[in-house]
This record gives sequence, C-alpha cells and structure tokens, in this order.
Amino acid sequence: MRLSVEVLGLLSCFFSLAVAAPGKRDLNSFIVAERAIALQGALDNIGPDGAKVPGAGAGFVVASPSKVNPDYFYTWSRDSALTLKMLIDEFIFGNTKLQSYIEDYIHAQAKLQTVSNPSGTFLPAGLGLGEPKYQVDGTRFNGAWGRPQRDGPALRAIALMTYSNWLIDNGQKSKAKTIIWPIIANDLSYVGQYWNQTGFDLWEETQGSSFFTIQNQHRSLVEGAQLAKALGVTCTGCDQAPEVLCFLQSFWNGEFIVSNINVDNGRTGLDGNSILGPIAVFDIDAYCDSPTMQPCHSKNLANFKVLMDTFRVTYTINNGIPEGQGIAVGRYAEDIYQGGNPWYLITTAAAEFLYDAVAQWKARHNLIVDSTSLAFFKDIYPSVTVRQYNSGNANSPFAQITNAVTAYADSFVAVAEKYTPANGSLAEQFNRDTGVALSANDLTWSYAAFVTMAQRRAGQYPASWGTRNAVAPPATCAGASTTGVYVPATAAGAPNVTSTCQVNVVFDVNATTYFGENIYVIGNTDDLGAWDVANSLPLGAGGYTQERPLWSVSAYLNAGETVDYKYVRQEDCNQPYIYESENRTLTVPACGSAAITTNDAWVGPVGTSGGC
Ligand SMILES: *[C@@H]1O[C@H](CO)[C@@H](O)[C@H](O)[C@H]1NC(C)=O
Ligand SMILES: *[C@@H]1O[C@H](CO)[C@@H](O)[C@H](O)[C@H]1NC(C)=O
Ligand SMILES: *[C@@H]1O[C@H](CO)[C@@H](O)[C@H](O)[C@H]1NC(C)=O
Ligand SMILES: *[C@@H]1O[C@H](CO)[C@@H](O)[C@H](O)[C@H]1NC(C)=O
Ligand SMILES: *[C@@H]1O[C@H](CO)[C@@H](O)[C@H](O)[C@H]1NC(C)=O
Repeated sequence: MRLSVEVLGLLSCFFSLAVAAPGKRDLNSFIVAERAIALQGALDNIGPDGAKVPGAGAGFVVASPSKVNPDYFYTWSRDSALTLKMLIDEFIFGNTKLQSYIEDYIHAQAKLQTVSNPSGTFLPAGLGLGEPKYQVDGTRFNGAWGRPQRDGPALRAIALMTYSNWLIDNGQKSKAKTIIWPIIANDLSYVGQYWNQTGFDLWEETQGSSFFTIQNQHRSLVEGAQLAKALGVTCTGCDQAPEVLCFLQSFWNGEFIVSNINVDNGRTGLDGNSILGPIAVFDIDAYCDSPTMQPCHSKNLANFKVLMDTFRVTYTINNGIPEGQGIAVGRYAEDIYQGGNPWYLITTAAAEFLYDAVAQWKARHNLIVDSTSLAFFKDIYPSVTVRQYNSGNANSPFAQITNAVTAYADSFVAVAEKYTPANGSLAEQFNRDTGVALSANDLTWSYAAFVTMAQRRAGQYPASWGTRNAVAPPATCAGASTTGVYVPATAAGAPNVTSTCQVNVVFDVNATTYFGENIYVIGNTDDLGAWDVANSLPLGAGGYTQERPLWSVSAYLNAGETVDYKYVRQEDCNQPYIYESENRTLTVPACGSAAITTNDAWVGPVGTSGGC
C-alpha cells in the first residue's frame, strides 16, 4: 500500500552506488546474505513449526532457543511485537508468504491478553497486560521478574495497526474492525490508563519511566486515534496522547537523553534505549523538529554523539576507532550482565538510526544544523556550520553531508559484520575484549533488528504513522489517566473470561536456610504453579533475621477458593528440590476482603550446601 514513492528513486540510486564503489560491494553482499539468514532465523524461533523451538505454540515468538545461561525459552511481549512489526513490514513490502505468521500471532495474542499472571488479571482493569513474558505455550510464568513492563501493549498495538492499515487498503476493513481492533483497543486502553505509572524498562532492570516506552506509547495512541476514525470505532485512552508527548520532552537534560527518569539507579542515563526508541517511531513523513523525537531531531543527533563517545571508550574492541567511525554498541556503559558487552541489535540499530535520519533529510530536501546538533556533524563533516543546507547537485554540501552520514551508518554495519560468525548466526552479545559471540544464541530480536536495518538501507520505509497529525503537547505537562475498557477479543479466539475477584495473600514461612538456598511456594492452582516446580512462586528473604528466618511473597488468589499448597527448597549445586512433608490448605476469603497473611513454619527435611 503506502510504500513511499521515494523508495523507487532511492533504490535505483542505491544500486548505482553499489556498482560505482567496489569497496561497498562487500558490505552490500554481506547485507543481502545476512538479511536472508536473519529473516529465516526469526522464523525458526516462531511456533508451531519453527525449526529451533519445538514446543512453542502457534504464533508465539520465542526469544531464543537457549534454555540455559541464559534461559530465554519464553515468549516476551516486547520482542514478539518488534519481530512481528518487522514481519508485517516485510509482508507489505511484498513477501506474501509471511501472512500465516501474522494470522497466527493475532490469534495467539488475543488469547494471551486474557491469561491471568503475576502482574494481575485481564479483567476488570487490564493489569495482566503489563506482564512481560509467558511460557512458550502461552501459559503464565510465575518466576520472579521485573514487572510490570508497559511497552508491550504499545508495541503489540503498533504491529497490529500496521497490519490493520494494510487490510483497510486491501478491501478487508471489516476484518480489521471485527477481529483485530478489539485486541488493539485493549492494549491502547492499557496505555491510556497506565502510561503515567512507573514500570520496568526494556532491559528489565530499572523501574522508572523509560524513554523507549513513553515514545512507543505516544505513537500507539496517535496511530490508534487515526485507525479508530478509519474504522468508525472509539479509542479509549487515545485522548492521553498530548500528555504523553509532553512527558516525552522531559527526558532531555540539555546535553543528552536520560533514558530512565523517575528513578535514581546511579547511572548517567546514556543508554541504547535512546536509539531504539527513535527507530521504532521513525516516520518518513515527519519533520525533524517534530516533538515525537525522530532520528533526524537535533536532540537525538546530539544524544547519538554523546552515546557513541561513551561506548568508544567502554569496550576494548573499540580501541583506536576515531570519532565519526562505527563502533560496537551496547546497552549502557555501567552494564555488567553477562560481562556487559556490545549487542548486535544495538549496533545495527545505530546504523538504522542514521539511515533513517538521512532518509528524512532527503525527503524534506534539507537539513538544519543547529548548535545542538553541530558536534554530531563535526565528527563526520568537519567544515559544517550552523545553518540550513538545502538539497542540491551531487557535489552540494547537502549531498556531501548525507553521503558522509550514510557512510557512517555503513561503518556500524561493518562492525556487526566483523563480529558475525561465518554461518551468519546472531547471538545476543559479542565479547567486549575479543568480539566473540556470547550469551543467548540465535536471538530473535538480533535477527529482527538486522532485517529492519537492511530495509531502511535499501530505502524501504513503512507508511507514515501520522506524526504530522499528532496534537502538540500542552504548554504545561500534567499527570493523567483515562480508565480503560477491557473486553476479551473473542472474535480473534480469546476465551470469554469474566472478571475474577482476587484477594491479596501473603505467604510467610519461617525456614532456616543456608546462603544459596531458596524457598518457593507451590500449589494446586495456576497462580501457584499447578504443582509444577518450574512455575512455583519464589519467596524473598528481605525480612530474614537471626531472630526470625522469614521468607515471604505477596500473591493474588481467587476470592473464595480453597487451595492446597506447600513450600519447596531449591538447593545449590544442582541438588534436587526438597519438598515439605505435608500439604497445607488455605481458604481465600471472600471478594473485597483485606489481605491475609499465612504464618507458617517449614515442616520436613532440610538441605545442606553442596559446597560447589
Ligand atoms: C506523570 O506525568 C507528569 C507530567 O508529565 C510527570 O511529571 C511525572 O513524572 C509522570 N510520572 C510517571 C511515573 O510517569
Ligand atoms: C554458527 O556458528 C556459531 C559460532 O561459531 C556456532 O556457535 C553455532 O553453533 C553455529 N550455528 C550453526 C547452526 O551451525
Ligand atoms: C461474554 O460473556 C459476557 C458476560 O458473561 C456476555 O455478556 C457476552 O455476550 C459474552 N460474549 C460472547 C462473545 O460470548
Ligand atoms: C499433595 O502435594 C502433592 C505435590 O507435592 C500433590 O501431588 C498431591 O496431589 C497433594 N495431595 C493432595 C491430597 O492434594
Ligand atoms: C515464626 O517466627 C516468629 C518469630 O520467631 C514467631 O513469632 C512465629 O510464631 C513463628 N511462626 C511459626 C508458625 O512458628
């Protein structure tokens, strides 16, 4: 449908460039080959037929086939939605065989929305939509996790809206309205109701307000209002868009984007988050000064430079690479996860960000260098000055600058190429000192990120999402919320769940443990893992003292039900679990009752450290 007219022109320009510049040919052929590997790599991780993920349900995207160190054999709402956005764009660009994956995803997500989980239930208030991850068959995951995460509903809505717009343009408006809109409406309700509450960021570590989350939430509401109008339905929550946009402006500190605010985690706030957000809301039709914070926005360019200056001195493998040249890019400088390394998906995102900016300047036929963005441009075009550069002939400064930014983008892809194994597989990270791939193998998001980068480099741009129609932010920001309307998307296959009333039950148990031993509670209901120890609820030892060896967890259980439960010890050194020798019974009080607390003491054999 709305494949931009510029695409054809840019494509031919790209090919003639490829022929003219022999040095480029290697990178071009790498990208062509790797793009195909990456697309297949993503498909191999999607149920029910994905070659690397036996056991995954239809339409569920598994984060990675890796089951140990790290165990990523789950489906995350964020990773899934970003992957589907890529697949839907590929489908719209002409890869028609991808449609069955999209259809499977729609039905899987309609059901998933209704699954009760540790973030809450779907009804009455949508809380369960904030759950970050599920088992690969779409059942709940009970383990300790950074929850809720509020980007998932926005990203899922964006992916489904992209497909809905294609349906409308292809004579299937009623399908978009009756089957898909009900899923989108729940997600937009969630965004409109909870955007002004903190949650965990995309790296699942920081509870605060995340630039990436807020930026995608804003896009989802703007796009939602337009789609609702086209379908003749109401979007509950979309009225929040101007306030979300107002809040988005507050991440800029005068020098760079502080990726997580409303939190003090001791970090600078310089984070790959601030590259992934802009590329996710990229709109080829946007103006560069749009408050939606596009890749070509001066503040984003300034932020890009500060961020790269940080990573250049963070990783050994970047040693000696000068400013204005691509480097290996990771999450944030203070990162220690798996050793704190560069990530493939963020390194290619840096390239995508620059391709996006170039595309926007070319589409606007000008670029404006201001005092905010000057340092960014100086690195790649030293004679740049603060002024407007209008497009001109091949020797014009405009052409020279856009060529220089394109070459800068290519140099990030070349770094990714350098550290990609010969067979093209993309893990999550590569070692900061040696460049060797590590952490989860075949990470779906790494593959999706490679494909979207390759799309932009090839001049393939998704249709505008309507940045020019976004209502300007109010002069003064205010916290706000619109109460959502949540209805199971039954036409897409969701079960017609009814509102469940739950009561807070705090499990307190006295259990003397050695350092390294953990306590879980398990029982006969889904909330308590249905006797599957892998899905039992972890207790915390925050209140453990000499006087009282207290382990505790707060849970929500269905009002009025009687549950059987017991505690379990998880031993160190891969020793077997130790179960209590008796089953306990608890009757959850009636709907509306205050929280209750168990007062239990461990009954049964105890463990000993394996001394490993
Ligand atoms: C809520 O919005 C207000 C106004 O933009 C902002 O100051 C505040 O930090 C926001 N809080 C959260 C948790 O989003
Ligand atoms: C691809 O290469 C990597 C790195 O050498 C290796 O770990 C991985 O198993 C290979 N994958 C396949 C499918 O052969
Ligand atoms: C779902 O259940 C509600 C109330 O129980 C009912 O009003 C509604 O018609 C049902 N929807 C479908 C599609 O069966
Ligand atoms: C007691 O607990 C075990 C799990 O440890 C379970 O399999 C069994 O069914 C329970 N017994 C009763 C009577 O509920
Ligand atoms: C748990 O320990 C506390 C503090 O010693 C004590 O007051 C309480 O009775 C104990 N609970 C049980 C069930 O033994």
